[in-house]
This record gives sequence, structure tokens and C-alpha cells, in this order.
Amino acid sequence: DLGLLEVHWEIDSTSSELQRRLPTLDDCSIVIGEMQSAGRGRRGRAWLSPPGMNLYLSILKRFDGGFAGMTGLSLAVGVILMRALDELGIRTAGLKWPNDVLAGQAKLAGILVELSGEYLGPCTAVIGIGVNIRLPDALHEQAEQPITDLASLRGDDPPGRNRVAGVLIEKLVEGLRQFDRQGFAGFVADYAQYDLLKGEPLRVIGAQSEFAGTGEGVDPRGALLVRRDEGDIVAIDSADVSVRRQ
Ligand code: BTN
Repeated sequence: DLGLLEVHWEIDSTSSELQRRLPTLDDCSIVIGEMQSAGRGRRGRAWLSPPGMNLYLSILKRFDGGFAGMTGLSLAVGVILMRALDELGIRTAGLKWPNDVLAGQAKLAGILVELSGEYLGPCTAVIGIGVNIRLPDALHEQAEQPITDLASLRGDDPPGRNRVAGVLIEKLVEGLRQFDRQGFAGFVADYAQYDLLKGEPLRVIGAQSEFAGTGEGVDPRGALLVRRDEGDIVAIDSADVSVRRQ
């Protein structure tokens, strides 16, 4: 049940392209860019997207359940990406809540989920994924945080970009169907396997307040569970909170 598959040489953003054509595209349509001139990251940040080395891919997925059932989708996509990396023989990466894919504290991949539609009726997700496969040296200096790539993690024999795309597409189509049936509850056990914050001392920083605690995993809605130093466990689901390892 694959929709269209398009590869562009240059595009502003593969996610923007799907957004523009949302009404006319079939479910599971995919756009890939060799490079992006205006790649978008979370929180309004840019995603640097030079040609030739990395994967920039977006997929459109329609759901009947509405926004109400979509909590946890971006975490589920993190799990799906980890399943793909597992199959590619990358075993040193993990997830930092909500959905950063890190290896040794450096960012290996990014996920941007954009929802539109109705709260209880049909809704559509545009899921954008950027995977660093082989980064040009200059990008390390331009990036706002430490970044890494598959070539550094598998120096002996890095997987080719088409293989990464193929495995990722297969896992996405399968995993998004699983999310449609089970919601995030079906991914909680797998998330735990990749959770880099579990058992870690954390500092949770919100707009109004901040506190210290320990990561206790995620709940079936995708909220982060933190045991505060006072002893109680709180569930954090606002995307406006930032969580740091102490
Ligand atoms: C993040 O900030 O961690 C999310 C980065 C998401 C980048 C991908 S690359 C393909 C797709 N197109 C975009 O413009 N962004 C996403």
C-alpha cells in the first residue's frame, strides 16, 4: 500500500512539499531530497541539509482517530527509526525523550512530526526524518549541538544511503500501521529498550519551574516519567519542557 515515491535533486523541504500537496496525495506517499535549501527542525530550528551524504525523507500518513489518539506518535517514530538502525547493524544509538536519536551524546538523526486535521475526526501526519550518514566536516562547526553520522559508527563498513532509505521505508510503513492499530501503547516495551534517560539523573526545565529527578521510562501516552528527588513520580508531556542529563 505504498503511495507515490518521489526523489528530488533540490527541494526547500521534503515535509513542506508533502504539506503543499496534502489533499491530492495517497496514504504513505514519500518524498526524498538529495538536498534541502530550507530544511526544518523542531522548535523552529533549521536542519542543515547539504547534498550527497545524508538522508532527508518525509512520509504522509492518514489516521481516522484524530489528534486525540496521536499522542506518542513522534516517540513511536523514534522507535521505528531505532528498529531500522538495528537492522542496519547500528547498536550504539538510543532515544532521548521525546525523540532525539543520539549516539554517544551526539545527534545521529532528527524527527519532525506535523499534524493537521480534526481533534476527533480524520487527521494527517507529515513525518520528516533526517539521518546523518556521512557528514561533511564543515557541518560539525555549523551545528548547534554535537552531531555524528553512520559512517563514524560503522567505520569499517557503513551502510549505503539507498539501503538506509529502503530499510527505513519498510519499517515506517509497517510501524505506522502498527501505530494505527495500537497507538503508542504498542511501542512502550520497545521504547524502554532504547531509552537513554532511564535511571539517569535529570533536570527538568519548564517555563515556570524546574526540578531534579531520575528517568523512570515513558507511559502509554508517551509522557516522560520522572521520579523527583522528593520521591514522587510525575508524568511530563509538554513539548515545552526541556530535559537535561545532570
Ligand atoms: C529535529 O529538529 O531534530 C528534526 C529534524 C527533522 C529533519 C527532517 S529532514 C527531512 C524532513 N524535511 C525537513 O525539512 N525536516 C525533516
